Amino acid sequence: MNKIKILPDNLANQIAAGEVVERPASVIKELAENSIDAGAKRIQIDVELGGRRLMRVVDDGAGMVRDDAILSFERHATSKIKTLEDLSKIETLGFRGEALASIASVSKVELITKTPDEIAATRVYIEGGKLRDVKEAARSQGTTITVRDLFFNTPARRKFMRSEATENYHLTNIVTHYALANPEIAFTLTNNGREILRLSPAKDLRERAYQIFGASMIESLLPVSGGREFVAKITGYVSAPRERRTTRDAQYFFINGRFVRDKIIAGGLLEGFRSVLPHGVYPVAFLFLDVPLEEIDVNVHPAKTEVRFRRSEAISQR
Ligand SMILES: Nc1ncnc2c1ncn2[C@@H]1O[C@H](COP(=O)(O)OP(=O)(O)O)[C@@H](O)[C@H]1O
Ligand SMILES: [Mg+2]
Repeated sequence: MNKIKILPDNLANQIAAGEVVERPASVIKELAENSIDAGAKRIQIDVELGGRRLMRVVDDGAGMVRDDAILSFERHATSKIKTLEDLSKIETLGFRGEALASIASVSKVELITKTPDEIAATRVYIEGGKLRDVKEAARSQGTTITVRDLFFNTPARRKFMRSEATENYHLTNIVTHYALANPEIAFTLTNNGREILRLSPAKDLRERAYQIFGASMIESLLPVSGGREFVAKITGYVSAPRERRTTRDAQYFFINGRFVRDKIIAGGLLEGFRSVLPHGVYPVAFLFLDVPLEEIDVNVHPAKTEVRFRRSEAISQR
């Protein structure tokens, strides 16, 4: 008798959610990326209880028609790539088509969305990956996704959530990242109804950094511009050596606008500061690497926060 069975979709999604949805901040990361990919000019993010009770992302992007709104929660459902060639030149933040399916499999999700051409909006409600309700609703163009009771059906995962303060730290950090990478987009973040960030559209990175961190930090920033054409161009700011931090918390790295945790960039930065900063002291940095799409593989991990460089030695040489 054979023993192998194909797992039901919902279980497959919950397994994938283990990688995509590490904590509340990963949900906000995926939803904000979707809003950015949808061309939003304004993104509002509300969280309650460190994201445990509620996370909501409201955008004024392209929205979805009814059929897409339902399909968007299917595994491997994406409007962003179609062929294998597309995978080698990814211009959007998303492409795997699994974020919404993963998130919905471990929470209660309400989606309300409207395209500019439709008269009515669509509301979809999904609980633990099960589609419960689809109906017409009202809203202007854009998408609102509300995620409630994260990990309500996966007690083992729920236990791994940290204190509200820790989750809030990660939530604010991820929103700050995307706000820095997209100065032209207005962002607001509220926590239990209290405003944490309110950022009107800014003209460039410097103005956005000023909005977030204030004048004193901005004054110590030195512009960075370098790299090599066809390999990697680097732009952004680093702090003057007198600005001293004991953690890497004020280091923000981006590759092609994507938030990444990259050891090559962090190492290169520290190397550059080695002669001026003592051990255990870190510079502030906002560094944007621009790498030709075909030089980079972003399909390394479902969370998409790691990349592989085709020529990593060229990247570290700066
Ligand atoms: N905020 C949004 N606005 C418009 N479309 C969206 C939004 N969020 C998700 N979508 C649509 O749903 C699809 C699935 O989203 P997701 O599961 O995150 O996969 P991916 O972003 O990798 O395509 C997207 O490809 C997009 O077409
Ligand atoms: Mg996505």
